[in-house]
Amino acid sequence: MYVLGIETSCDETSVSVVKDGKKVLSNCVASSLTMHKKYGGVIPEIAFRVQLETIAQVAEAALRDAGIKKNKIDLVSVTKEPGLLGSLLVGLCFARGLSYGLKIPLLEVNHLYAHIYANFLNRPEARLPAVALIVSGGHSSLFYVRDFNRIEPLGATQDDAVGEAFDKVAKILNLGYPGGPIIEQLARKGDPRRIKFNCSDTKLPLNFSFSGIKTAVLYYAQSHKPLSAGHKADIAASFQKSVIEVLIRKALLACKRMKVKRLLVGGGVAANNKLREEFIEAAAHAGAEVHFPDRAHCMDNAAMVAGLGFKLGITKEGA
Ligand code: KG4
Ligand code: ZN
Repeated sequence: MYVLGIETSCDETSVSVVKDGKKVLSNCVASSLTMHKKYGGVIPEIAFRVQLETIAQVAEAALRDAGIKKNKIDLVSVTKEPGLLGSLLVGLCFARGLSYGLKIPLLEVNHLYAHIYANFLNRPEARLPAVALIVSGGHSSLFYVRDFNRIEPLGATQDDAVGEAFDKVAKILNLGYPGGPIIEQLARKGDPRRIKFNCSDTKLPLNFSFSGIKTAVLYYAQSHKPLSAGHKADIAASFQKSVIEVLIRKALLACKRMKVKRLLVGGGVAANNKLREEFIEAAAHAGAEVHFPDRAHCMDNAAMVAGLGFKLGITKEGA
């Protein structure tokens, strides 16, 4: 079964063809990132206009890369929520048109659940039930996943998302956008023990809070001006260490509470190598498995949307 996935929830325009929910035949991603750089964050109006202009070409490229004619597609799957309204609308309208024109079914799926599904693309190992941790530019959430139509929220951020905190810390240190990969690279040269930054406590233990640590970095940076390159690297490493520690602690607590020893991590921040290494070590210590998607499937992409569409589509048929 061939599913065409469409993802336009933030600044990316992505279209993908996935076979049987597993094999990614193509995954085309066009991004308006460079146009947002000077603003230090995504400007919704710019994102939406670029998506409107590019979506048809991206879809053609995805079909061409997959070597599939459009009349071979069995199902269209598109991100419905959450995301930027105008951007979502571009994907939804295109998907509805395609489904109508090709006379094939359409499934509208949740973006966060698609990030969880990314763990099942191009790989056989991951299984359910599991606890899922989604760490991206817009979300930091924990879920209990019995199956893809039975997902239970366990916790979420009360303020900033973890990727957003990476982006803001990079902005405070004048490092550019998006901040995640830049902070990760710089942190490799820094001393993570030099400065003690803490993530704020939350009333509910499976919730997250990252706005306090961002403000702590801001005050620290303002009171230690001018910052040398080495000092910035120490700040990046200390910040990253504290964030990773809290993510690991809460994800493993969720596993313990739900009595599962399987953790699926997804979202843009899951591309971070240090985070992956620390999770693998901590999970092994706790006797749990931890899974990550391929790096290309951590960032926003349509392959995860196509995969989830397949999974929900066959569950519906079988029901
Ligand atoms: O999942 P994603 O592509 O979009 C959303 O759904 O938000 O995630 C983008 C976020 C950005 O905040 C970016 O800074 C962060 O993921 N990110 C990283 C890394 N690569 C991307 N954060 C930490 N380390 C990375 N290597
Ligand atoms: Zn995302």
